[in-house]
Amino acid sequence: MAMGTHFGGLWLALLCMVSATMGAAPRKPVDVPFGRNYVPTWAFDHIKYFNGGSQIQLSLDKYTGTGFQSKGSYLFGHFSMQIKMVPGDSAGTVTAFYLSSQNSEHDEIDFEFLGNRTGQPYILQTNVFTGGKGDREQRIFLWFDPTKEYHSYSVLWNLFLIIFFVDDVPIRVFKNSKDLGVRFPFDQPMKIYSSLWNADDWATRGGLEKTDWSKAPFVASYRGFHVDGCEASVNAKFCDTQGKRWWDQKEFQDLDSFQYRRLRWVRSKYTIYNYCTDRKRYPIMPPECTRDRDV
Ligand SMILES: *[C@@H]1O[C@H](CO)[C@@H](O)[C@H](O)[C@H]1NC(C)=O
Repeated sequence: MAMGTHFGGLWLALLCMVSATMGAAPRKPVDVPFGRNYVPTWAFDHIKYFNGGSQIQLSLDKYTGTGFQSKGSYLFGHFSMQIKMVPGDSAGTVTAFYLSSQNSEHDEIDFEFLGNRTGQPYILQTNVFTGGKGDREQRIFLWFDPTKEYHSYSVLWNLFLIIFFVDDVPIRVFKNSKDLGVRFPFDQPMKIYSSLWNADDWATRGGLEKTDWSKAPFVASYRGFHVDGCEASVNAKFCDTQGKRWWDQKEFQDLDSFQYRRLRWVRSKYTIYNYCTDRKRYPIMPPECTRDRDV
């Protein structure tokens, strides 16, 4: 009995160590200057730079929001950003972090953070577009206040799956369901984008809460401008990383059991909306949702 528990504890410790090393992506430098990998997209004067550009702030006022994008386009990789959301009254504002290809039948992987009145919770909405088709929204509350500290939001994208992470916690998986006739992003390089804008026509409680401009400017802070992806050059549109980069390796082709457990925890405790279970909107469940279910 005593020995059983002893071994049990050891085994658990070992398990945790293994999951911690397997599930985690390599550590990223946090002091990469913004300008190495990114450029402002619009309203350049609404971006402020700190510590040699290793931290920036986007601001939104009644005249304009602002945004930035990566210089490079990428096929596969791990894309992360550390963000501190707009503090205080952020109702009506949306802070987005996403990957998108530029063509008409575009692919897109989205994080959208919907602000709220002071003390009310942010919503994180995610979506996946493949071949121009989206309508795959999922919404969750977060288990922390995202305006207090930097948290990392990231996407792992390889030929097998797309995983959305909040810090190290997987909150969503979109598996390659090509065998079920669902397109999967694999040949259109994507750029990384982020922006802060006003969306009080829909964002907070479906547009009921309006942006209070007397609280402007609304400010979101960023750091972590390192990019860990396969950069697609203009000529070589197809960037074949199969088996060559860490995100292609066996342990990243599916979640491990520890990650599945955390995903289920997010599912059961924090989910507000999942298109996969919305029978009004989808009387017939979208094919990729069978893979969403066996989470
Ligand atoms: C804002 O807070 C209200 C009240 O707690 C909640 O119903 C809503 O889902 C929250 N988030 C957004 C983006 O509306």
